[in-house]
Amino acid sequence: MPTLELEPPLLVFGGPYSNLRALEAMRSEARRLGIPASRTLCTGDVVAYCAEPEESIAFVRDWGIHVVQGNCEEQLGASAGDCGCGFVEDSACDRLAKSWYEHADRVVSRASRAWMAALPKTIELTIGDLRALAVHGTARQINRFVFASQRQVIAEELAATSASLVIAGHCGIPFIARSAGKVWLNPGVIGMPANDGTPDGWYGLVMVTHDGALRLSTHRLAHDHAGAARSLRSAHYADAYAEALETGLWPSLDVLPPAERAATGRPLQELTVSLPIDNRQHEAHA
Ligand SMILES: [Fe+2]
Repeated sequence: MPTLELEPPLLVFGGPYSNLRALEAMRSEARRLGIPASRTLCTGDVVAYCAEPEESIAFVRDWGIHVVQGNCEEQLGASAGDCGCGFVEDSACDRLAKSWYEHADRVVSRASRAWMAALPKTIELTIGDLRALAVHGTARQINRFVFASQRQVIAEELAATSASLVIAGHCGIPFIARSAGKVWLNPGVIGMPANDGTPDGWYGLVMVTHDGALRLSTHRLAHDHAGAARSLRSAHYADAYAEALETGLWPSLDVLPPAERAATGRPLQELTVSLPIDNRQHEAHA
């Protein structure tokens, strides 16, 4: 497992999902914020639903950011038969996932597969005094969906790691949750909306405040979603994803727990959580 020592501010995001326009928007935002590639981390699934898998990989590699392997990279890197999300056979998610996976499997090059296969499953981060762990699903299971309403799962996963902060991806909806003095940050994904009825993607920032506390936050990211939807439609494999880019609503809610399902179409708020420095030092040496 690679270990990185990073000084904040850090930019973190997940799920580019083969959406090249979202990646361009994210890189522009990083430039605007003055955050270099060396302090930028993606929690995986560079390739998924949208139309430009190979271009998206090339863009991320050119950018030079840190990337955790997602289940999509794991599966395509191994030339496996499906995306590895573990959807129920013939469910709506399963049928849709097959459509994009076949497209990606056709166009992703051998060199890109080798890059995906070599990505680390977790990255340990030292951010000032704080130990953090970047993962895709969880540290123990790459394709485990963890949503904000699953308090018990979050508590168990945080307790299972020595890190004070876990930065995760995979589930597609941003949130920040605390448990026993530790924090789970899912900065959200940039390549698809968060099922909140807006076309925006999401990213996160890890900053240090003037008094030395760590501040975690989630932020909206607008991109040319109409262009991304046009590109998807011209690829002729899944108009449902193009519609999701336009409406901000997912084509299937199969994976959502009841609370997140009930929140469909309700615009999300940007969040901020601070970790006091005493807490950080305590956690770092626990
Ligand atoms: Fe994933």
